[in-house]
Amino acid sequence: MKNFTSIKDVPDVKALLQLAQEIKKQPYNYKSYGENKTLGLLFFNPSLRTRMSTQKAAQNLSMQVMVMNLNSDGWQIELEDGTVMNQGTQEHIKEAAGVISQYCDIMGVRTFPSLTDKEADYSEKVLNKFLEHSLIPVISLESATLHPLQSFADLITIVEQKKIAKPKVVLSWAPHVRSLPQAVSNSFAQWMSNADVDFIITNPEGFDLADEFTNGTKVIHDQDEALANADFVYAKNWSSYEDYGKIRTDLNQWQITNKKMALTNDGKFMHCLPVRRNLVVADEVLDSEASIVLQQANNRTYAAQAVLLNILRNGS
Ligand code: CP
Repeated sequence: MKNFTSIKDVPDVKALLQLAQEIKKQPYNYKSYGENKTLGLLFFNPSLRTRMSTQKAAQNLSMQVMVMNLNSDGWQIELEDGTVMNQGTQEHIKEAAGVISQYCDIMGVRTFPSLTDKEADYSEKVLNKFLEHSLIPVISLESATLHPLQSFADLITIVEQKKIAKPKVVLSWAPHVRSLPQAVSNSFAQWMSNADVDFIITNPEGFDLADEFTNGTKVIHDQDEALANADFVYAKNWSSYEDYGKIRTDLNQWQITNKKMALTNDGKFMHCLPVRRNLVVADEVLDSEASIVLQQANNRTYAAQAVLLNILRNGS
């Protein structure tokens, strides 16, 4: 694996999953691969889990880690070629990515969508510029459309927690008060539609995700019908893809409550976090044994470690 920006970069998902499971049992077994190597983590947006779990993963491999909050601590980066840089931007992506490549062996980039320019967001303009001008492997720490490190951790968690060979997994839209990206949901759909699960999506009319990521997954607009006999309920808000970036705040009945969980097959509750309590999900669910959100967060480390190790083994 050269880069890790979506499931499409992974030649063998089962093998990567096995590697993550092996690493979780013996996290310090592969230290020699990371010795004298440096990981650069570049954040254009806030993060708790991605930042800490990816640092921990790198440290478990003996890597050095440099973290930079590009928006607040770096120069404003120009993405366009041929621009006369006489306005707000101070450093071109060509130099920025090239320079980071002198100091690091792998770089991670977090860059959220604008949610105002669908074409730019769905062309992954920022991430692709890093891929174009980086001289080292690039991993996505969540991009405009996808969050593969999260989805890989979610897959690890489902495989660990499942009680039947092919569990029913439901991705459910949930209420929110702000416009949120579709990245976690797109990515979860992409990974689940490639996994050995019975996967469906439920969301209100007008909130269907992009076909390019759902791969023909069944979408049910009646949440109760979708939740029936679910083994895993993955709640997430996303703003509209169709009416790009728009939200609805009049759909609180989509919140995951004990009543909703009672429709499931003693199902587990999942969320990528951070989560707004009593908006997306009720306290009674998040504080119950059904919730496996901390197990998901824990698996972020092993997902990132498997990805880093795979890239290191391929001779970054
Ligand atoms: N789930 C996730 O990516 O969390 P952070 O935004 O805190 O990194």
